[in-house]
Amino acid sequence: MYRTHTCGELNIKNINTSVTLSGWVQRSRDLGGMTFIDLRDRYGITQLVFNMETNSNLCKKARKLGREYVIQVEGMVTERSNKNPKMPTGEIEITVNNLNVLNSSELPPFTIEDETDGGEELRMKYRYLDLRRYCMKESLVLRNMMAQEVRKYFVSNDFLEIETPVLIKSTPEGARDFVVPSRMNAGQFYALPQSPQTFKQLLMIAGYDRYFQIVKCFRDEDFRADRQPEFTQIDCEMAFVEQEDILSVFEGMVKHLLKEIKGINIEDRFPRLTYREAMEKYGNDKPDIRFGMTLHDMTSIAKGKGFNVFDSVEYIGGICADGCSEYSRKQIDELTDFIKRPQIGAKGLVYIKYHSDGTFKSSIDKFFNPDALKSCAEVFNAKPGDLILIIAGEKESTLNTLSELRLEMGRKMDFINPNTYAPLWVLDFPLLEWDEEEKRFFAMHHPFTSPRPEDIELLDTDPGKVHANAYDMVINGVEVGGGSIRIHNQELQQKMFKTLGFTEEEANDQFGFLMNAFRYGAPPHGGIAFGFDRLVALFAGLGSIRDVIAFPKNNSGRDIMIDSPANIPDNLLKELSLKINRES
Ligand code: AMO
Repeated sequence: MYRTHTCGELNIKNINTSVTLSGWVQRSRDLGGMTFIDLRDRYGITQLVFNMETNSNLCKKARKLGREYVIQVEGMVTERSNKNPKMPTGEIEITVNNLNVLNSSELPPFTIEDETDGGEELRMKYRYLDLRRYCMKESLVLRNMMAQEVRKYFVSNDFLEIETPVLIKSTPEGARDFVVPSRMNAGQFYALPQSPQTFKQLLMIAGYDRYFQIVKCFRDEDFRADRQPEFTQIDCEMAFVEQEDILSVFEGMVKHLLKEIKGINIEDRFPRLTYREAMEKYGNDKPDIRFGMTLHDMTSIAKGKGFNVFDSVEYIGGICADGCSEYSRKQIDELTDFIKRPQIGAKGLVYIKYHSDGTFKSSIDKFFNPDALKSCAEVFNAKPGDLILIIAGEKESTLNTLSELRLEMGRKMDFINPNTYAPLWVLDFPLLEWDEEEKRFFAMHHPFTSPRPEDIELLDTDPGKVHANAYDMVINGVEVGGGSIRIHNQELQQKMFKTLGFTEEEANDQFGFLMNAFRYGAPPHGGIAFGFDRLVALFAGLGSIRDVIAFPKNNSGRDIMIDSPANIPDNLLKELSLKINRES
């Protein structure tokens, strides 16, 4: 037997018990005639003690152990003289009487501690060592707990977990597909699913009216802290439902997780904003509502004062920072630099300081007299002591910049409490987005999303104005989930494809199977998918989903541990009827 107990469970109640433990050497200290070793496994750390006086051979053997050696020890649980109240096992130690080295270890390339000296690339290369760190283990334990609770919730609500295929067919919408060549069908390719979207709709047509799946999805898109090419969704679909039914089931899931995992009870219904409201108030369709400082439109009041920058633009808006009127020149310059960064790309920042004595100072004093500045301040309900920050330009991009500025000020003013969760629904998204480069509409969500019934006629006359029966859930500024009520009627689906610029042939070629299925009694249905990695990262309080994925890819989409993607031998290429053009 390798062990009678784990390294995390022994305490003062086990004194004088004879035990066998196995694990890794975390660290070793020689103090006078004693050697202390911290033995680690998944469950915790237990201190081992070897005494030179009572067992010198064993103690000498222990002194030769290096970091990360795998050992087995037998010994007696004894009370520590020097207790460590921070550790669950901190009141005891094991007085070892037998030591068995199960395996040696080379010196690891970084320290196996939460505050490690290893950079990210090194930790990715030796991910199995990285995963030994306590903080990584905590993330994976949390991930497992959340997956179990998700399953519990859905199963108890009559959902069936059904797997869908991973080798499917490439479709032109959305992100780029990863493709897999088929040996048996020379020159043809499977695609990996960006989501199980069409399959879950087919399951509804097949009568499985409550489906869920914790499922891998694949998207060949650019990286960000909250994006991986291979990620996991909690994917769901329901038949005979309206938007309200779906919102209530998934709000229930998030409440269940917050309660079971975080001990947080949210009784109230989650707030709801329409897409337009979110954009106007927060400049963003995934607003962080943990704090206020909302955006205000001052276009009408600020135009016509002879200030060319304002007079020549579509939109002028700003935020009001409570109690910041004494910001220095340097602080304002820093904010200006922040919004001028290439990622944000704004041209400039105007400020109005509403001093505590009731006077105003602004960067537009030349064009705005004190009365005009006061009128501007009224738009924001500003009070003496506040600082108003204003940006002008094309409407959508200015809203985006103001959103970044609001978040930056929120951080600076310490408004963002990392221990609170502020979920909300964003509803009524536009159905379509115009792409200036390609001069055509794209589906904002995906082509199966249903337009609001009252807007269907606009599809022919003014498609840009059609609203969708689509919804996103946002928590603390992170889009954690999105879904929609689907089209379940063949003609409407055809019309949608036409609006998206598909010819009838293209639509049939790509999605004929779905349109055919619509002919055989498709029930009204809708669904949603949550980004499971994002949800876990949020619950873990971590900024990057990489830290909650056991084996993630790096920024260039590589797994540097297994060195993938990689070349394949010529004979394999031949079997797949593929030729690589090495010049391109
Ligand atoms: P959508 O494309 O909005 O919808 O994806 C749903 C959720 O998945 C997460 N997500 C990602 N997480 C990590 N890395 C990525 N590359 C990534 N891309 C998306 C987000 C997002 O909210 N089939 C539809 C859902 C539906 O309509 O039912 C879909 O996939 O948290």
